[in-house]
Amino acid sequence: MTAHPDTIALVVEDLGKSFTLHMHGGTRLPVVSQVGFEVHAGECVVLGGPSGAGKSSILKMLYGNYLAGSGHIRVRHGRALVDIVEAEPRAILDIRRMTLGYVSQFLRVIPRVPAIEIVAEPALAAGVERTAALERASGLLHALNLPERLWRLPPATFSGGEQQRVNIARGFAGEHSILILDEPTASLDAVNREAVIGLMAARKATGTAFVGIFHDEEVRARVADRIIDVSAFAAREAA
Ligand SMILES: Nc1ncnc2c1ncn2[C@@H]1O[C@H](COP(=O)(O)OP(=O)(O)O)[C@@H](O)[C@H]1O
Ligand SMILES: [Mg+2]
Repeated sequence: MTAHPDTIALVVEDLGKSFTLHMHGGTRLPVVSQVGFEVHAGECVVLGGPSGAGKSSILKMLYGNYLAGSGHIRVRHGRALVDIVEAEPRAILDIRRMTLGYVSQFLRVIPRVPAIEIVAEPALAAGVERTAALERASGLLHALNLPERLWRLPPATFSGGEQQRVNIARGFAGEHSILILDEPTASLDAVNREAVIGLMAARKATGTAFVGIFHDEEVRARVADRIIDVSAFAAREAA
């Protein structure tokens, strides 16, 4: 059961992608074709399938990092459905501020910026007032068990798992109605995997839609409302 079953958050239609390998004589590498699925508010859709099937590439197209070869990616942005494939770069930045969040597999470390500021930044960008944004950041870092003595330090020297928790907290700190997660729990221990599952459940209850990749079978079974096997969309020829 989803909390907001009638509200479409994301519609993917006929999406295709090939890479052109310029270093290899322009060889075309078809990855996926005719990908189609919908995600409703409050729902978590997990992309499954073997390594190399194209899961991360689909997430990068959803976020506008990879240009789609064909098809449409419509996201509910305010009252409109906006096609990421055709949107202007400025529109994509606006969508990323308010609608689409992305948690990558690893934190991109920004030199000298303390962890708590990195986490608060998306909330500030979405217009949340500074005190409230810092409170939200503290709440998330607490929930993810990051020791308070680390909050004022830049994460460059943190362990992999600590950096990833800063990354997840940052991803959850915005006001995004759709969150894209690329294996957020891969480098976490059982306690912190549980914390992420808890944060996701709380956001699903308020209508946030999730699209993600989760290799851990147990995590996947707990978070997924639906699993889409990406190998069903394997491209047989260049899209
Ligand atoms: N930027 C890129 N340039 C060329 N090939 C890429 C690029 N990104 C991904 N690929 C290729 O696309 C295929 C799918 O990769 P990916 O989407 O990462 O799969 P998955 O996440 O399912 O493991 C792989 O063969 C990979 O080598
Ligand atoms: Mg991947």
